[in-house]
Amino acid sequence: MKLTQAQMDQFERDGYLFFPGHFSPPEIKVLVDEVPALYAQRRPENVREKTGDVVRTNFAAHMYSAPFARLARHPRMVEPVRQLFGEPVYMHQFKINGKQAFDGDLWQWHQDYGTWKNDDQMPGPRAMNVAIFLDEVNEFNGPLMFIPGSHKLGVLEAAHDTSTTSYPLWTINNETIRKLVDRGGIVAPKGPAGSMILFHGCLVHASSSNLSPWNRVSVYLSLCAVSNHIRRFKRPGYIAHRDFTPIECLPDDCLHMDYDVPLPWKDGTPAEELQGNLKAA
Ligand code: SIN
Ligand code: MN
Repeated sequence: MKLTQAQMDQFERDGYLFFPGHFSPPEIKVLVDEVPALYAQRRPENVREKTGDVVRTNFAAHMYSAPFARLARHPRMVEPVRQLFGEPVYMHQFKINGKQAFDGDLWQWHQDYGTWKNDDQMPGPRAMNVAIFLDEVNEFNGPLMFIPGSHKLGVLEAAHDTSTTSYPLWTINNETIRKLVDRGGIVAPKGPAGSMILFHGCLVHASSSNLSPWNRVSVYLSLCAVSNHIRRFKRPGYIAHRDFTPIECLPDDCLHMDYDVPLPWKDGTPAEELQGNLKAA
């Protein structure tokens, strides 16, 4: 799949591109059917909401689930990112955010590159966020909100919030957000399951809690240009990956066909991937 020049220009201007219905309902069903078994597992990759047992984020499913390992190599997702960076990419982070009906908690205003820089020593913002909707996203179930154009401001000052939500995040203060929204407004791409968003690592984003009766499960992948790989292994390997091997795509029908994929963490996460240490290999 190739982006047009108009799409490349739009990405440059707004910091994101939205592709409604990019994957078909049968393709998405293959992924949706796998999620309950992943969320039921007792493994460190499942981070729960602070209120109880509901899973907020599952990390690194592509290392132990065949459907998600195939998604991680899908050309409709990987090729536009490679095109925008002009070089091969590796998987920096892979998560399935639950945002479950009634229980899904908010994500505060932040830029992902703030965390990649501060925690992982990623040299530049040459890593792309990709969101793929496994459920419909509507105005009620906590859609992702963007401030268009905010990626052009580079890394903004942020504070390390380790208490408000169940997962530490570098968050941006309300006064800064007010100024940014005065300039750029807020958008919240909404659409059917199977929709895809590409968004810049410096684009300021957030989402509110899900008080609706509809789950909002979405996959979030971060694909990093290989030359821009992280330099510090402070966070566990299942959160910030340490394997910088370029992604090789499978054929376009890979969500329908049983192509062979490696599942190295199927029987558990290797001990060295569970801990952070400060030294990169
Ligand atoms: C994120 O910013 O990484 C996730 C936001 C969301 O799931 O709404
Ligand atoms: Mn984010």
